[in-house]
Amino acid sequence: MEQDRSSQSRPPHVLVFPLPIQGHINSMIKLAELLAIAGFKLTFLNSHHNHERLVKFNNIAAHFERYSGFQFKTITDGLPLDHPRSGNWFLDMFEDTMEPKMKESLREVLVNSSPPVDCIIADGFLGFALDVAKELGIPIIFFRTSSPCCFWVYYSIPDIIQAGELPINGSEDMDRLITTVPGMETYLRCRDLPTFCRKLDIEDSIMKLVVKQTRKSLQADALILNTAEELDGPILSQIRTKCSRVYAVGPLHAQLNTRINAKHGESYDHFSNTLWEVDKSCMFWLNKQPNRSVIYVSFGSITSTSREQLVELWYGLLNSKTKFLLVVRPNSVIGKDGEGEDVVMELMEKSKDRGYIVNWAPQEAVLNHPAIGGFFTHNGWNSTLESVVAGVPMICWPQFADQHVNCRVVSEVWKIGLDMKDVCDSKIVEKMVNDVMVDRKEEFAKSASEIAKRKIRRRSRWYNGGRFT
Ligand code: UDX
Repeated sequence: MEQDRSSQSRPPHVLVFPLPIQGHINSMIKLAELLAIAGFKLTFLNSHHNHERLVKFNNIAAHFERYSGFQFKTITDGLPLDHPRSGNWFLDMFEDTMEPKMKESLREVLVNSSPPVDCIIADGFLGFALDVAKELGIPIIFFRTSSPCCFWVYYSIPDIIQAGELPINGSEDMDRLITTVPGMETYLRCRDLPTFCRKLDIEDSIMKLVVKQTRKSLQADALILNTAEELDGPILSQIRTKCSRVYAVGPLHAQLNTRINAKHGESYDHFSNTLWEVDKSCMFWLNKQPNRSVIYVSFGSITSTSREQLVELWYGLLNSKTKFLLVVRPNSVIGKDGEGEDVVMELMEKSKDRGYIVNWAPQEAVLNHPAIGGFFTHNGWNSTLESVVAGVPMICWPQFADQHVNCRVVSEVWKIGLDMKDVCDSKIVEKMVNDVMVDRKEEFAKSASEIAKRKIRRRSRWYNGGRFT
């Protein structure tokens, strides 16, 4: 059932559709805003649940009303209203519970859209959008929120298995190199593969789902990645051997900031698109700290830590010679009998003169504050890019998905951080913080600042008269 999309007297209508998770909404709403600035009519399709939170914690109406063609639409994410949607929930619920309802709702939005949608930009994890687009005859581009390196590793998993490099035998050396991912033969180790690759079962359902979605991403009309040629050129070349239309349009937050600053001036208060209430008090605390003296510690929007891990981290930070700003998201500490949250209160009490704890920080602003000298991160791709652009070296403590590969790239390829993968010990935390913030401070600051400088060439023409160039 095709709609009439022949009228080109109006701006092209693009529908942007993210996976309903903070890390995915963040970059896709930025892409949507860039397209709105370029003159497209834009529909941003969000889940009811996340849209409510976007409205609650951000001044959405005031921000987006400047784009006359920008609208939000909402659909179900397929989960019951009372589902907590915290922890790593979506991988377990995705195929059976979320996908069928989201697919049906997407179809309904597209069929009823006026003017008709000319192009869908869907999250690469939402492979079902390709089936709907084909059925309705609408061009579709997939956008992957994870790194190109991770995309390429996911794509290569069947080849790694075929070559006998997976499964990993539990007792063997996790530092063994994986030789079957083209372009990464010299640095990708077993321990840098996504965590689901550590299972002995090569039929693991999550691994199969991720491979399926990744391979499907290359069947779309084009693939967009949130990176720059200058950062990930060699791996982008590898991906282009499988799909000729691969566009590196990022880092999107930097692209958007450049355009908004040009239009409204540097002091303009950027839209934060956050799903939690931002505690800006930490900025006042940072204002009182010397330049490059504070390490920022935050693990994104999904990762949880155990009570024991948080205590190890905290003692490591406390025993280091550095002040810290720590984010502990609500419900992100897993303890016995609800003990998780208590430990945060105890830490707050003990760390008054050494650190500052918030539930959710204005991360981009924090990373760009002169007092910040390092970022203790889980290496989610948004956090990694935000740190790269701000020129802040990292201590990498990845937890799952693309984070392990990102961590390896940061520490071994770009050499702008230290790898703390698979360890959580206060002595090691202390040593790494001292290395990045004190003992090897100048070395890391120099490499981080060099990579920040080459992060993005200004792109003035990635949209040209209704066509991507
Ligand atoms: C997830 C995956 O981990 C990530 O690798 C994938 O590419 C996208 O989805 P998440 O784990 O939340 O995302 O990490 P990340 O990609 O780093 O995104 C977190 C975002 O939340 C960042 O843009 C960060 O600026 C923001 N944030 C985080 C805040 O604004 N305040 C905070 O206190 C913490």
